[in-house]
Amino acid sequence: MDKRKVIFDVDTGSDDAIAMMVAIQNPDRFDILGMCSVNGNRGIDYTTENTLRTVEWLGSDVPVFRGCALPYASTLDPWRRPRIPYGGANGCASGQSSIHGDLLDLPEATIKEQDKSAVMWLIETLLASEDRITLIPVGPLTNIAHALRIEPRIKEKIEEVVIMGAAYHVGNITATSEFNWWIDPEAAKIVMDSGLNITLVPLDATHSAYVKGSELREMCKSGTRAAQMMEKLVSGRIKGYGAWQPMEEEDAAPIHDALCTAYLIDPTVIDDMREVWVDVDFSGGPADGMSICDVEKRHPDKKPNCRLALHADREKFVKILADACK
Ligand code: RIB
Ligand code: CA
Repeated sequence: MDKRKVIFDVDTGSDDAIAMMVAIQNPDRFDILGMCSVNGNRGIDYTTENTLRTVEWLGSDVPVFRGCALPYASTLDPWRRPRIPYGGANGCASGQSSIHGDLLDLPEATIKEQDKSAVMWLIETLLASEDRITLIPVGPLTNIAHALRIEPRIKEKIEEVVIMGAAYHVGNITATSEFNWWIDPEAAKIVMDSGLNITLVPLDATHSAYVKGSELREMCKSGTRAAQMMEKLVSGRIKGYGAWQPMEEEDAAPIHDALCTAYLIDPTVIDDMREVWVDVDFSGGPADGMSICDVEKRHPDKKPNCRLALHADREKFVKILADACK
């Protein structure tokens, strides 16, 4: 089987780290060209350092590129909701410190980020590539939106975009909206209107693929560096979700971003996938960042713009995570 050329776009973040770890632990499946950091779970200094820590802990030589520090249109209209993390550019975005922490509980990075900005590197790499590349954005879509606006020709070099974001029936950062799209709804709009081959993995799917504490303890018995990282990060997630957004089972947490990597390893991990038109509200009002998923086909004039994952096979997902810990 040919390796899939991929680029991660991450607001690392504990689940971003696990998404990257699953790919790094499957070198026969993925040729990872680079990791691009973006503002999101935390400000760009933290998300970049956390990405470096993840790559170094796992002994990978994948280059890391610093991305956008602010959302696409965050400061153009100061009277609208300022789309920056709570606590300023490097503060705590989600308010749930134990889910991510400002800095991941991994040794401080000694490797350095690349000199080139993530957006410029994305454009140059895509234009120069002989092969088409799969993008795996699992944070706000700021970098991808800028790259598309600056150089639309990159579309011809993009095989697929597997996005963690959006929500059909649930919200997390607000009653209506999912965090990645709430931080940068304009960027989400640009990507969803791009005509690219999009697989969208929303909260509905990631919440159905939660990991239980008992499963975590079992998969981490191997004691590998991947297992040690999984144990540290997921136990913090289980604690944080228990306090903030309990799953349908106690002592459990979703690993949102890792479901995107798992889908690329085994597409059947998503057991309810629909062709759907998805839009996003960026009006700055109470539903700002809400994803509008026309699953019921109420807008027949709107052609589907993505495959929308509505549910996952939890056991298959847990096995992919466990295999990555070996
Ligand atoms: O809403 C979940 C998403 O927001 C995940 O990507 C998590 O890492 C945060 O970025
Ligand atoms: Ca993320």
